[in-house]
Amino acid sequence: MNASKPSATAAATAPEQSATTGRDSLSITDNRTGKKYEIPIKNDTIRAIDLRQIKANAEDFGLISYDPAFTNTASCSSRITYIDGDAGILRYRGYPIEELAEKSTFIETAYLILHGELPTRDQLSDWTYNVTHHTFIHESIKKFLDGFHYDAHPMGMLISTVAALSTFYPDAKDIFNPDSRRKQTYRLIGKMPTLSAFAYRHSLGMPFAYPDNDLTYSANFLNMLFRTTELKYRANPTLERALDVLFILHADHEQNCSSTAMRGVGSSHVDPYSAIAAATAALYGPLHGGANEAVLHMLLEIGSVSKVPDYIKSVKAGQHKLMGFGHRVYKNYDPRATIVKHIAYEVFDVMGRNPMIDIALECERIALQDDYFISRKLYPNVDFYTGLIYQSMGFPVTMFPVLFAIPRTAGWIAQWEEMLLDPEQKIARPRQVYLGAPKRSYAPIDDRG
Ligand code: CMC
Repeated sequence: MNASKPSATAAATAPEQSATTGRDSLSITDNRTGKKYEIPIKNDTIRAIDLRQIKANAEDFGLISYDPAFTNTASCSSRITYIDGDAGILRYRGYPIEELAEKSTFIETAYLILHGELPTRDQLSDWTYNVTHHTFIHESIKKFLDGFHYDAHPMGMLISTVAALSTFYPDAKDIFNPDSRRKQTYRLIGKMPTLSAFAYRHSLGMPFAYPDNDLTYSANFLNMLFRTTELKYRANPTLERALDVLFILHADHEQNCSSTAMRGVGSSHVDPYSAIAAATAALYGPLHGGANEAVLHMLLEIGSVSKVPDYIKSVKAGQHKLMGFGHRVYKNYDPRATIVKHIAYEVFDVMGRNPMIDIALECERIALQDDYFISRKLYPNVDFYTGLIYQSMGFPVTMFPVLFAIPRTAGWIAQWEEMLLDPEQKIARPRQVYLGAPKRSYAPIDDRG
């Protein structure tokens, strides 16, 4: 994905000339040729393209790096989200997640993620107005939803309907026009809750509840989900705030699977609705945003606290994973999981204690003392406790990943825009190591053994 050229200082030198040029470089000796190379190090990083000059002979393509699943490859530079996985630190635009969860709102945090700075009062009011006034969706979307079976998964409906939005807004193809990008941003942040709520109401066979512009972002979402005959929906303030904080916690998480999908698909210069559909699809998987749903299924399968030790044994025997545990980046307690655990008790105070919390706590207690989990640095991640909160708030399990996708839309758009405006970025197009058959001739079907 990185389109940079080899830097001028990254030149091959003959063995006898290979004096170290400085501290910010890497010396490489190619044992095939005996040649030595100096590769610059900047921001604790070498550029993979600098390896290309390392050739076994003049016809050689040059060295490439092999990194399945990008475990040690930076595909971009970014100024949006900072994670220190060993220390359990997460910051959006420099602000610690703990402070944002305590003091901010989702709509303000979304502004911060997208614009880089916290808004002034006027900026916040303008931003809120614009998002709020883009919550309605074209009536034809209702016809698409009608086509889905009553038990269609809401993530499938969300992926399809957000992709369909691109057909309503052909102006969205004008991706290098900042005014167009701003308009699509209002639309996407405004409409994702509406599409999600309509998908939910479709599964219940209930009439759609339209957005209410008097309500906050989170309260309006609850309104569209749960409103029945009342003239004016009033959200319980504790539940409204809990949902808003959960939205803050899920708003961005740097180069995860779905952001990478957003950047990769967006790098072909497709419109943002199509790219968001791809990112939402990436999120749907049980190893990513679908993990909250998988955790709840797991807790139901375990069934009682007394069965937890046996379940942990089966995890250690490799029969299945402990869902909601482990993370590619965090090798410490996920800071979001700590906040989520607190919210769980606030929600239980209103809705009653979810009995499955005891099974979850027992899983955590045993795992955190067990060498299997300790040696692999497997801690609870954000998805471990969120499902219990969502369930207590009345959401069906299939809606859990949807509740992840709505706030992550802010992060996806920020990542997409950063990618578009980065002069080093080009269409994403990794290399491969070809290990298949060498050239051979086509054999007619009767000649094949
Ligand atoms: N339960 C049991 N063992 C695990 C788990 C788990 N949840 N996660 C990792 N391991 C083991 C894994 O088997 C491997 O063991 P070994 O070294 O013996 O082969 C070792 O730990 C390293 O795991 P890995 O698969 O190489 O780690 P990864 O970085 O590729 O995977 C992960 C990260 C999140 C996909 C993985 O931990 C996992 O599948 N967790 C469960 C799913 C989950 O909770 N996902 C939500 C992630 S947080 C929300 C988000 O941002 O998406």
